[in-house]
Amino acid sequence: MEAVVPEIESVLHETRSFAPSAAFAAASALDSQRLAALRRRAAQDHEGFWAQQAATQLDWQRPFDLTLDDSAAPHYRWFVGGRLNASYNCLDRHLPERAAQDALIFENDDGDVQRWTYAQLHAEVCQLANALRALGIDKGDRVVLYLPMGPQAVMAMQACARIGAIHSVVFGGFSAESLKDRIEDAGARLVITADAAPRGGKRVALKTTVDLALTEGCSSVERVLVYQRLGGCVMDPMRDVWWHDVVPQQPTQCEPEWVESSHPLFLLYTSGSTGRPKGVQHSTGGYLLGATVSMQWVFDLRPGDVFWCTADIGWITGHSYVSYGPLSNGITQLIFEGIPTYPDGERFWRMIAAHKVSIFYTAPTAIRSLMRLGDELPLRHDLSSLRLLGSVGEPINPEAWLWYQRVIGGGRCPIVDTWWQTETGAIMIAPIPGAMATKPGSCTLPLPGICAEIVDEDGQPVTQAGQGGLLVVTKPWPSMLTTVWNNDERFRDTYFGRFGPRVYVAGDGAQRDDDGYFWILGRIDDVLNVSGHRLGTMEVESALAAHEAVAEAAVVGRPHEIKGEAILAFVVVRGSREAALKADLPRELRDWVASRLGAIARPDEIRLVEALPKTRSGKIMRRLLRAVGRGETAAQDTSTLENPAILDQLRGS
Ligand code: PRX
Repeated sequence: MEAVVPEIESVLHETRSFAPSAAFAAASALDSQRLAALRRRAAQDHEGFWAQQAATQLDWQRPFDLTLDDSAAPHYRWFVGGRLNASYNCLDRHLPERAAQDALIFENDDGDVQRWTYAQLHAEVCQLANALRALGIDKGDRVVLYLPMGPQAVMAMQACARIGAIHSVVFGGFSAESLKDRIEDAGARLVITADAAPRGGKRVALKTTVDLALTEGCSSVERVLVYQRLGGCVMDPMRDVWWHDVVPQQPTQCEPEWVESSHPLFLLYTSGSTGRPKGVQHSTGGYLLGATVSMQWVFDLRPGDVFWCTADIGWITGHSYVSYGPLSNGITQLIFEGIPTYPDGERFWRMIAAHKVSIFYTAPTAIRSLMRLGDELPLRHDLSSLRLLGSVGEPINPEAWLWYQRVIGGGRCPIVDTWWQTETGAIMIAPIPGAMATKPGSCTLPLPGICAEIVDEDGQPVTQAGQGGLLVVTKPWPSMLTTVWNNDERFRDTYFGRFGPRVYVAGDGAQRDDDGYFWILGRIDDVLNVSGHRLGTMEVESALAAHEAVAEAAVVGRPHEIKGEAILAFVVVRGSREAALKADLPRELRDWVASRLGAIARPDEIRLVEALPKTRSGKIMRRLLRAVGRGETAAQDTSTLENPAILDQLRGS
């Protein structure tokens, strides 16, 4: 089946296993005995298990009456009747004990450091929440956040949650058009942005992009709230409001809006295999519970920890493990505005040493790019504060895993490879580091209360070790998406269309080994994973097709040493291919895609071809294109190919 991505199969030959040290295990709150008890309880009584977690881990203004309403499956509702507020759970409930403890340590692009205690963060979130109310934002209104990575982004998410507004964060690297699409789909009334942001020494003109998005449409937007980060942007006096003009004078108390457990906390747009990005909708109670407990279990939280997740808040990792999970657990975390290689390749290691980071969570693409710079750079720094390392976003190859373990973790830090998705809300499959052995390249076992399985094309469980299949989740879990914004049908079709309303289809291929450990094999659909970021091939194809010189385009991924996957586009031009080559159209098209979608979507290579390979019935032979992209020969029977002579052009020869 297509699920099996051949180059990743090499990980299955990896047999090394790493148990936590006795000292690590002894100090873990979740040791193997306690973990076994949790798993037993979850297996015996799925709902009872989650009810107990919800009752003990979150503060409810009104307790829930019913744990799970599955009467309209797959539209599940968790903790029915319960009322809570996410920002109250992230801030207020810590004040009696942790008011003076650092919540955020922020290092900006230039290396300047600022801190917010829980009391200070609470006060500033309340001020911002009051300002949002003063701007007319109510419970249920959508607010788009287009902000640099930093404390204001966290505050904006928390402030929205405080008043029951639904935030939708758009990654600051996305283009005006992508921003516009998301604003329009969500029907946002307010956009919160910054004038500009520094990133790796460069200036990213966020406000200019917002202006561009708003001139092209977005009639729902009434106001734009602008945080001044660098200075120097044009304001529309009728529409735009400076943050510093309306926020600091607000009261530092703000009564939270108590919302139903299923009230939407946020939307986050993500790519699928077809159509435009979809607004994945998450609930308040279920989502917050997932982010809270997964954080405790997988990161083995202990008093005094300094946690650093390097993800931008524009992605789900930045939602669950920057904004909600760390704050809900009342820990201290580092947040960082910049990039790993600015001003040099030692930035991460210098920061870990300076802030005594104990838990570090990043993506394989970052690990691979820093590994390439050699061992000497990290070895110049005192990384002894680290006790646990995490990985997320894409399969980690054993070579990078082992380097991370040996050079960054000094051989003593367990590595938690965490599999999950925008849709799952929280980590689903990952080691419990004090209780389990890890293996390079495996995300190990589902968390307690998560029923992940592998099935074949007919939905039958795959029981044989080493046999690939589809990764599914067979019981609802609290932090699952509740729907696709404004599109229940797309929600049902995409995730529950294949095996019915009880079986969530993740879109990944996976297999298990003799110990039952899961090994993720990659996407089985037309979703690319470039540097841990999801992109639909269709989105890139549509962007290409919108260029006047393009007649037709097909996009595939091919393995890339650092980014995991690179984008390769085959393009049929209108008019002469030779003339287009002479005019360097491929370069123009790469820039064109970047300007339409954002820099992460810039194709690595564009091959101009006279025709796309199609079957006689007119279907593009994507599998053949993928094989060509990987440099494989005769991967597919080409006898049905309309024009076999174009194979050489496809191969770029
Ligand atoms: O293919 C899987 C891959 O990333 C996809 C989800 O992407 P996104 O929604 O952007 O969320 C990324 C951060 C949670 C999955 O379908 N993926 C994520 N984590 C892993 C992974 N693949 C292998 N191993 C992982 N640990």
